[in-house]
Amino acid sequence: GEPWVVMKTARAPSNIAVIKYWGKRDEKLILPINSSISVTLDPEHLSATTTVAASPAFHSDRLWLNGKEVSVEGERYKNCLREMRARATDVEVESTGRVIKKEEWSSLHIHIASENNFPTAAGLASSAAGFACLVYALAQLMGVKENYEGELSAIARLGSGSACRSLLGGFVKWNMGQEADGRDSIATQLAEHSHWDDLVIIIAVVSSRQKETSSTSGMQESVRTSPLLKFRAEEVVPKRIEQMEKAIKSMDFAEFAKITCADSNQFHATCLDTSPPIFYLNDTSRRLIGLVERWNRHAGEPQVAYTFDAGPNAVMFARNKEVGAELLKRLLYQFPPSSDADFSRYVIGDQSILES
Ligand code: PMV
Repeated sequence: GEPWVVMKTARAPSNIAVIKYWGKRDEKLILPINSSISVTLDPEHLSATTTVAASPAFHSDRLWLNGKEVSVEGERYKNCLREMRARATDVEVESTGRVIKKEEWSSLHIHIASENNFPTAAGLASSAAGFACLVYALAQLMGVKENYEGELSAIARLGSGSACRSLLGGFVKWNMGQEADGRDSIATQLAEHSHWDDLVIIIAVVSSRQKETSSTSGMQESVRTSPLLKFRAEEVVPKRIEQMEKAIKSMDFAEFAKITCADSNQFHATCLDTSPPIFYLNDTSRRLIGLVERWNRHAGEPQVAYTFDAGPNAVMFARNKEVGAELLKRLLYQFPPSSDADFSRYVIGDQSILES
């Protein structure tokens, strides 16, 4: 017959955790030792765009990241592809009317091309956007329908833990879950972005260099060696999750800021408590923390919150637009453009995924 190709493109945003996920209880299924809460970022500024294609002319699964071919042999890609193929349905090829049968998907090879519009692996959750996008695009391509709420989230989780949170917009909670097979370790939306649209997000790109310790190996080492991490997961995070959910529901910025900063700082403390220690923050990150802490102290109540993932870049939340403008002014004054830090301003996006 005629050669054919089917293709889908999707875009998924990145997300930033305000209660951090750090540490797995199951390495294969990517099940976390604690629940986490995040804010989904505006896809205009921080997102992955992924095109997936299938054709009988393809002889193997292949993957291009930002234009460079990389191996698709890693467990994470293989697990996502396997789970999606298992859920594929009959799909009609629009242009020809031909139907790709459910059974055919197991032997059809997939080509994947994914691009980020922001620095990869610099602690701005590029894997989160990437895997959320891959799973969503494959679902469109293969006609996958969710059998239960959060099924795609559970598959994205197999690619990268934090990816399960990028399938939803606004404020999102990843419940650690109880089940051994991970079916309840999924993300749910706490509130839409429009629920709290006063909030302004400003991202300070301190360095676009790739991080030295990947989150995967970093959290393995922390689980193995940090007594603080165990204490954090068991004694601290469960209470913070409850407090943070309340703060988001009631738009209590003071509480939101207090917990966000404390949780970022405790996450980086567990990194320092790891043997050998892991350093993600640099001098610029620490100066940013100082600037915000001084500001909040002088103001009498929190105006700005900061959080850092596995890298030196800051994500800052200003309580409203006026404070956001003032924050940018202070950042530009303290870190003039001639320095090695380069800052951009972003707002929260509610649109989590766009397809085409
Ligand atoms: O999903 P991973 O393996 O990229 O880990 C993410 C870890 C942090 O970004 C540091 C915290 C989080 O909850 O996103």
